[in-house]
Order: sequence, then structure tokens, then C-alpha cells
Amino acid sequence: MPNVTFSSPKQKKDVTVYAVAGNRSTILGLAKEHKIPVDFECQDGNCGSCAVEVLHLGNKQPMAAHLTEKEKTALVLAGKVKQAELDELVVKDLAPGWRLACQYMLLDEDIAVKF
Ligand code: FES
Repeated sequence: MPNVTFSSPKQKKDVTVYAVAGNRSTILGLAKEHKIPVDFECQDGNCGSCAVEVLHLGNKQPMAAHLTEKEKTALVLAGKVKQAELDELVVKDLAPGWRLACQYMLLDEDIAVKF
């Protein structure tokens, strides 16, 4: 059961929500469910408006997360990550710190989301 802590200047304080075990939602889905004002438009990984910074909490190694080509393209076009940086992270089987909230499926790990 992961804890997801949302922080933003748009909120008076950080909000931590608990995703139910087996929750197959995205960060954006969880945010909408709890009325957390993460920006979004297309909800399909195309526009990049839902880009958020994801920090892994705790001592565990972050779980591998494979980005779709659509998410990689949107993050590069949004200026959140450079293509060369993405290429290097793929080789290391790591995800970038910036992700699309509408594409990031929640895993069983605690994260902080900055938007
Ligand atoms: Fe458009 Fe997520 S809402 S990429």
C-alpha cells in the first residue's frame, strides 16, 4: 500500500494519500480521486501538461519503470528531460525524475510528487 505525498505551491500544505493495495491507478487518477489540483489536459500522454517530479522515498531501490515512447517524447518536448539523459537512463534501467502523471502507474512504493 503505497503512500503518495503531493506537494505544490498551489496547496497550503503537503497532502499524503494512501493508495489501496492493488490500486492500478495513475498518479493523475489518484490526484483526481482526492481532488488534488494536478494540471492535465489530454490524459493520454500527448500534451505534457501533467508533468510532475517524482521522488522515491525510503531506502528501497526504486522499482524499474519503463516509459512508453509517447511519454518520453512528451517529456522531451515539455523540456523536462533531454533526449541524451533519457537514453542514458534507459541503459541503466532507471526512470527520470520527471514523469507524466497520467502515464505513471502506481507501484508498491512510497513516492513524493511535486507539481
Ligand atoms: Fe496530457 Fe498527461 S494530461 S500528457
